[in-house]
Amino acid sequence: MARVLRFLTAGESHGPALSVVVEGLPAGVPVDREAIDADLRRRQGGYGRGGRMQIEKDAVEVLSGVRHGRTLGSPVSLLIRNKDHENWKDVMSPEPQPDAARERRRLKYPRPGHADLAGALKYGTDDLRNVLERASARETTARVAAGALAKSLLRAVGAEIRSHAVRIGKASLEERLVAWNDLADVEASPVRCTDEAIAREMIAEIDRAKKDGDSLGGVVEVVARGVPAGLGAFAQWDRRLDGRIAQALMSIHAVKAVAIGAGFEAGETRGASFHDEILWDAEHGIERPTNRAGGLEGGITNGEELRARAVVKPIPTLLVALRSVDLRSKEPQKASVERSDTCVVPAAGVVAEAMLALVLADALLEKTGGDSLAELQAHLESTRVAQRGLAGPR
Ligand SMILES: Cc1cc2nc3c(=O)[nH]c(=O)nc-3n(C[C@H](O)[C@H](O)[C@H](O)COP(=O)(O)O)c2cc1C
Repeated sequence: MARVLRFLTAGESHGPALSVVVEGLPAGVPVDREAIDADLRRRQGGYGRGGRMQIEKDAVEVLSGVRHGRTLGSPVSLLIRNKDHENWKDVMSPEPQPDAARERRRLKYPRPGHADLAGALKYGTDDLRNVLERASARETTARVAAGALAKSLLRAVGAEIRSHAVRIGKASLEERLVAWNDLADVEASPVRCTDEAIAREMIAEIDRAKKDGDSLGGVVEVVARGVPAGLGAFAQWDRRLDGRIAQALMSIHAVKAVAIGAGFEAGETRGASFHDEILWDAEHGIERPTNRAGGLEGGITNGEELRARAVVKPIPTLLVALRSVDLRSKEPQKASVERSDTCVVPAAGVVAEAMLALVLADALLEKTGGDSLAELQAHLESTRVAQRGLAGPR
């Protein structure tokens, strides 16, 4: 899907490191290692995470493509070491090892809802360790690091991204619109929810699920502000930005549904009370009193806040393990249990920010081109002048 900005992640959950190569960023984009680490920490946090996140203290190493705090235009490669690898050296060694090393951590009983069984069938192995090490959402660490670079590019053109938890289990903000400014303090909430009372309910839901050895899903919303109008295109199905955003969010582990703007509400509302009217006054130019479209019309950004929601399923590793089967003996067994989180909804919001940033940065570069940030900014300014001519002040 990516056209101008590409990235490829690599690395196993308990291997030496996660890595990512980001290619297509123009020269001159500020790279702040602290800002990348801050996002990595946010991904590790959130009420409901398990023991693994206490072991890992993710920190990025910048291996290429950056000099003196700015991109060079060459591929940027980033590395995040897995501290836990110390305990897995022989199990995850790329070199041949005695059978004992394989057996010690062999996962035998596929977990319903995880990639274990489907991956075993795909790769023809009954050693589920070979599947889960890459299928694990530890991979999203590398996406978040890449996303921080994309955010830096977006910030340079005045666009920013925030996210929050809309629902965890039964505790929900429902369809309530949370204003951009109210999202500024979301990190103060352990569940990344703006409403204190609902946040308390969310925490209670997580505590109950944890006590029962169960897990819990929810909904996150990701919001981008200051996104230039005119990104994406309706000219061809795979150029539509709504589709590209949906794919990016859906690709996040455990995400099972994506909605743009008012999303599913669209199916139950009549047009006259659904669509966002177009008004004009001399002071503001074109204004939209509502934004149920979520900033996208015709697969193109329309200059309003871009809003998308993602539904996160309850994670599959459960202490109250579901029924499964030993792939060797075919005997019934309880599904394997690997050290695990109870709820990852707060973290999924951070990953969603990264994925949205990468898609928007790609669409921006597609629109403006530019080998350097200065070229990109100059092109964008001329676009904005033309747009002000059509729509008035902004
Ligand atoms: C940030 C994050 C952390 C996750 N942590 C776990 C975990 O600890 N245990 C688990 O079973 N699943 C976890 N998951 C979900 C699984 O990775 C996911 O369900 C699995 O890869 C199967 O993919 P699917 O749910 O998209 O089909 C996590 C997901 C995210 C986004």
